[in-house]
Amino acid sequence: MIIKEITATDTYGIRLEVLRKNIDLPHKFKGDFNKDTFHLGGFYKGELVGIATFIKNDFVSLKGKQYQLRGMATTIKGRGKGIGKQMINQAIAILKEKQVDFLWCNAREEAVLFYEKLKFTKIGEEFMVEKVGLHYKMFTKI
Ligand SMILES: CC(C)(COP(=O)(O)OP(=O)(O)OC[C@H]1O[C@@H](n2cnc3c(N)ncnc32)[C@H](O)[C@@H]1OP(=O)(O)O)[C@@H](O)C(=O)NCCC(=O)NCCS
Repeated sequence: MIIKEITATDTYGIRLEVLRKNIDLPHKFKGDFNKDTFHLGGFYKGELVGIATFIKNDFVSLKGKQYQLRGMATTIKGRGKGIGKQMINQAIAILKEKQVDFLWCNAREEAVLFYEKLKFTKIGEEFMVEKVGLHYKMFTKI
């Protein structure tokens, strides 16, 4: 398994397949092409099976330099192999170098345990994202 930087356009296929299946919301994110945004891809047997996007963006309840994780997904084929975990760990190493204080995300309810295993903590109340479902804001200290 290999984790490496990919482009925004490389993420679109898996975003559509995993995160936008039967969900009529955009798969292109504001900030995808910002100069300080980066995207990581997880490759298994040479195939891209995992994606994650890191966008410099502040969440008001946290104080310090922050990045938001968006578009976190692994394909059915790539799941349960530690690819999600490795992408987050690699991102944390990159964010450390950038002297970022926090990484946060809007976590789907069904992904909360995944983030908790990666030392993210819930902050604030749950909230509903129309067409997707219940979410929690979660963050980890870098
Ligand atoms: C959530 C998701 C990204 C996890 O990716 P993954 O590559 O399968 O995760 P990993 O294999 O790296 O798992 C790391 C750990 O988290 C656990 N884990 C993974 N997904 C989990 C889940 N949904 N609930 C509970 N635990 C989970 C694994 O068992 C593993 O635990 P371990 O370290 O004790 O063995 C993936 O299941 C996915 O794409 N889901 C659908 C889209 C989605 O919900 N994305 C998040 C949007 S906020």
